[in-house]
Parts: sequence; structure tokens; C-alpha cells
Amino acid sequence: MAFPITRLRRLRDTAVLREMVAETTLEAKDLVQPLFVREGRGERRAISSMPGQFQWSVDTLVERAGEVAAAGVPAVILFGIPDRKDAGATSAVDPDGLIPRAVRALKKALPDLAVITDVCLCEYTDHGHCGVPVERGGRRVIDNDQTLPLLAAMALAHARAGADVVAPSDMMDGRVGAIRQALDAASLSHVPLMSYAAKFASSFYGPFREAAESPPQFGDRRGYQMDYRNGNEALREVENDLQEGADIVMVKPALAYLDVIWRVKQRFGVPVAAYQVSGEYAMIEAAARAGWIDRGAAIRETLTSIRRAGADIILTYYAAEFARLTS
Ligand code: PBG
Repeated sequence: MAFPITRLRRLRDTAVLREMVAETTLEAKDLVQPLFVREGRGERRAISSMPGQFQWSVDTLVERAGEVAAAGVPAVILFGIPDRKDAGATSAVDPDGLIPRAVRALKKALPDLAVITDVCLCEYTDHGHCGVPVERGGRRVIDNDQTLPLLAAMALAHARAGADVVAPSDMMDGRVGAIRQALDAASLSHVPLMSYAAKFASSFYGPFREAAESPPQFGDRRGYQMDYRNGNEALREVENDLQEGADIVMVKPALAYLDVIWRVKQRFGVPVAAYQVSGEYAMIEAAARAGWIDRGAAIRETLTSIRRAGADIILTYYAAEFARLTS
């Protein structure tokens, strides 16, 4: 039935009817707030490439997380910026390292806030890569299997400290299985795994690398993160992670990969997370500052589109702000 019988504008002309037929909803309960934590006390260091975002010390992190929780956001994901970086990422696996201490402080002060931890070596290595570098055929590459025990030990340190979910973001093959086994062997079989399953090598991580002080010191991450030309391969990555025991699978970044979010949700029907990354945030902030876009409208539109594509959970630097606006 076509025009003039059908007129789709009939339901568009008034706000009340638009609301009634809106297909997609986005609520605070679906959001995760990423937070950066560093050593020290009383710290609140601005991140210049991510205006409005800060590096916190454990004490101020607890205060900030309290505000996030009060806004109605159910979860935070923590990224650590340790004082000490070395080739072997020793501070990443320390049971009394920065993130375990942050987790313990958060769980004590805010027991109902879910604490997710990012599990990856790049913030802890002096070379800034997500795994262990080796020399192969005259080239420096990241060795997959030497990296797995380090990731498992790191996840274990986080889970033992009380992390509610651990989230490996390194893209090594087999790391979900290695972490699952390590947790299960330590009587932590109840701790869920959210894997960065389809994580693409992306220009949109640039601001994060300033925030986390983790740019690679040689080469780039294309030897382990995915090629953005590949959608079918993303489904294979997701399938592998699910077989290895991932409970939630993530697509990252979000806005340039809405098709991947959609395909993952349609194909597997499992809980899907999407990460609106630092570069997506920085683009909105920069354009809004220049007066070129309406900031609030752009935040709502991008987050809603990620949800419409099929994401159940969205990790976004706007989590607390969005939650405050909608509550
Ligand atoms: C660690 C990690 C990165 C991000 C999340 N975890 C950086 C990277 O892989 O280079 C990016 C998050 C963002 O850009 O907001 N590997």
C-alpha cells in the first residue's frame, strides 16, 4: 500500500506520537564508563586530546566512580597507567598493582557498582605493545603464545582483587581460553569474561594512547588487531571467543563498525558490547567546540545508532553525562 493511503509522516508530526512509536531506547543501565587510573594521591590530570576526561589516582577515582554510580551508570571499566613500565609488563601481573588496588578500593566503597578491568599489556610495557615482542626473520613481532600466560596472570590478579568482569583487549589468539582456564583453576569460575572480540586496528584509538600513555614504540598494532576491511573475519573472531568461553563479546570501535555489530548480534544472539572509543569522543568534542555540530544531539544520535545496530552494552566516555540527562 503506497501513497496516498500510506503516509509515514502521519506519525512523525507530533512529539508525543514520535515518542510512542520510537523503536530504539537507550538507558543508563546499558552504559559503561571508562576511567583512567594512575599512581599518586589527589590526582585529577586533564587529558588534552579528550577534553572532560581525566587520569585519576585511586582516592579520586573512588570519588569519581561515586558520581558515575549516582548518575545511574551500573559499571565502570578501568585502565591503569602504572609508574613503572618494562619489557615484561611486571606491574601488570602484580597482585598489589595499581588496578588490583583500585578494584579493592572501589568494591569497598561502592559494592553495587560493577567493576570491569581491561586486560592488556600495552599500558605496562616500555615498548607499548599488547604482547611479548620477539625477533623473527629480522623483524620485531609480537609472540602470541608467550603473551597468553601474562594475560592470564593479569586477569587473575584483577579477579582475585574482586573485579566483577575481566575484559581482554589484546587480540592474541586463544587468550579467552587461557584466561578462562586460569580463573576456573583458581575457583573463580563465576567471574565473567567480556572479550574485545572484534577489535580493529583503528585510527580512532589515538587519543586513548595519550590518555593511557601507551603508544607503540615501534611498528603498529596491525599484526594483532583486525584489518578494517574484514567483516567475515570479525564473525570468526567472535565465534572463537564464544567457543573459548567469552560471556559478552565486544565490537570496537563502534561508529565505523555498525555493520559488524549488527552481524554479530544477528548471527550469535549473545550479549554484545560496543565501544565508542576515544577518537569518536574527540571528534564530537572538537566539532562541537568549533560550533560545527550540536554536541548533545550528536551524543544522543551516535549512541542511539550503536544501540539500533544491536549493541546491548555501550562503553562510552559519555556514560555518566548521558545518564544524568536521561534520569
Ligand atoms: C588496550 C586498549 C586500547 C583501547 C582500549 N583498550 C588501545 C589500543 O588498543 O591501542 C582503546 C580505547 C579508546 O580508544 O577509547 N589495548
